[in-house]
Amino acid sequence: MSKVIKGGTVVTADRQWKADILVEGEVIKEIGPDLKGDEYVDAEGAYVIPGGIDPHTHLEMPFMGTTAAETFESGTWAAATGGTTMLVDFCLPGADGSIKNAINEWHRKSAPQICSDIGYHMAITGWNESIFDEMKYAVDNGVNSFKHFMAYKGALMVEDDEMFASFARCKELGALPMVHAENGDLVDLMQKKFLAEGKTGPEWHARSRPPEFEGEAANRAITIADAAGTPLYIVHVSCEQAHEAIRRARQKGMRVYGEPLIQFLTLDESEYLNTDWNHAAQRVMSPPFRGKEHQDGLWAGLQSGSLQVVATDHAAFSTEQKRMGLQDFTKIPNGSNGLEERLAMLWTYGVETGRLTPEEFVAATSTNVAKILNIYPRKGALVPGADADIVVWDPKISKTISASNHHSIIDYNVFEGKEVSAQARYTLSRGEVIWAWGQNSQPQPGRGRFVPRPAFSSAAKALTKWKELNSPRSVQRDPLNIPAGI
Ligand code: URP
Ligand code: ZN
Ligand code: ZN
Ligand code: ZN
Repeated sequence: MSKVIKGGTVVTADRQWKADILVEGEVIKEIGPDLKGDEYVDAEGAYVIPGGIDPHTHLEMPFMGTTAAETFESGTWAAATGGTTMLVDFCLPGADGSIKNAINEWHRKSAPQICSDIGYHMAITGWNESIFDEMKYAVDNGVNSFKHFMAYKGALMVEDDEMFASFARCKELGALPMVHAENGDLVDLMQKKFLAEGKTGPEWHARSRPPEFEGEAANRAITIADAAGTPLYIVHVSCEQAHEAIRRARQKGMRVYGEPLIQFLTLDESEYLNTDWNHAAQRVMSPPFRGKEHQDGLWAGLQSGSLQVVATDHAAFSTEQKRMGLQDFTKIPNGSNGLEERLAMLWTYGVETGRLTPEEFVAATSTNVAKILNIYPRKGALVPGADADIVVWDPKISKTISASNHHSIIDYNVFEGKEVSAQARYTLSRGEVIWAWGQNSQPQPGRGRFVPRPAFSSAAKALTKWKELNSPRSVQRDPLNIPAGI
């Protein structure tokens, strides 16, 4: 069976033009004018874009004494309704510390539930020989990126020497190291100080982790990556201090990537001053929302290329779960929602305002991350041979975001009340229409697949070559001039 996506304006990361897309089976067969097929998907008056890829989610994540409420089914479904056809979830080692067991556990949980495709990053939460060995298992099994938490002291945090060892191992394996950049020692000290002073409300969460702590850690991670000779991906960039570190590194030729979140681009720290405890706690995440002065810089970074990817860090805990921290802000499970809203919010606040072009929107929501994670052009591209993960993006469907109409499992939405001006008219995952606006589409758990990601991206190879050619050499000395040993 073939399908033609008919009459739309195709938008890729580098151009837009009127064309039909012929899909055969699970892949794109042809792009051009007046194509014929067995079935038609109406794209008149709409854009046709590569399905969104959200590179940062935490579905059913065991964290801070509870488990994120969003399931693999509800999460991938919510994503699809919002135009996202693939997400990359963070796999965390369990109590045994085994990477292999963690990957198997993630497959066990995700496989029967996922409605569209998924990949994993692996978290490195300590350092020893078996982690060194098992990193190869991860890479051999399609997990080619490793996240290091510089925060969450006493739980997930790793030290500089551990990061260096792990980054060096990443380089050897052709994998991409990632960091959660916040100075965990300082956050820990500030949390203890505030609690000792009786400051227990959620506003103190944000104040215990200021932008300077993030900037310092970003700089440190960049230094470590450079010493280890590997590219680096900095997740959830929230502030100018971290962005500045990334910008400076890139200007020096370092291969550093930065990922702002849609929350950081559109919501700010005043949310924590809300007198409703629930409202403030629902928005507690790390790093926290920042002052408005940080947002212009993040938008400019997307436009100028110093930041490449917009993600969500979707870690959705119910209000009930957030209430674990009623007496103590350090016990509020960290995380917020966004995977359903990412595209619509970025379009409304980015493209509709003229901050981003439609092409830059596609780059930031799909193409750039497919390249960075080495799955391009199978994902993130509209070209013959690519997976037919395609969204008919309708700039005329407006909606008010609300927990009352969203597809997430949680009982609130951090974007509640925001008016968005575009929606997915149709979402196709590998050629199948899995979401059609206003047509009562239903989730199809189990149809999604795990997407293995190969190691040695071309950026990793180029950096290795550069480092080899430019690393200092020993000075060759005439043996006759070397004083004899005694
Ligand atoms: O607050 C957050 N970001 N929760 C999820 C875990 C992480 O640090 O990414
Ligand atoms: Zn330390
Ligand atoms: Zn993080
Ligand atoms: Zn995260």
